[in-house]
Amino acid sequence: MDWKDFDDLPGDEPEAQAYRVCRVEQLQEGRGRVVFAGTLKVAVFRIGDQIYAIKNACPHAGGSLGVGRVEAMTVACPRHDWQFHLGTGACVGRKMYSVETFPVEVRDGEVWVEVKGS
Ligand code: FES
Repeated sequence: MDWKDFDDLPGDEPEAQAYRVCRVEQLQEGRGRVVFAGTLKVAVFRIGDQIYAIKNACPHAGGSLGVGRVEAMTVACPRHDWQFHLGTGACVGRKMYSVETFPVEVRDGEVWVEVKGS
């Protein structure tokens, strides 16, 4: 057995759990909001009828993406202006970087974000 086999063992993957993080009306179009999903800080954004959730920590040096500048479908990190696509988490112009994204669901006007292992 090599090391790669250990990655495939069942039970290694943390379970996903959904957390109610805010109400839809608490989200302003074009502005982020920092919330907790369990113990994890998540940045949520409302763009039109869609809501997106990404990890609040920029992969460059930990900037709070939830307070970044939103333009169309991207948010710019407030520290050094790296930009991330809200739907995919991809860093614009830096292919090897991305920020984690999370599934979002709206139930009765409340925003639920699903994270793993929090
Ligand atoms: S900390 Fe986000 S771009 Fe540097």
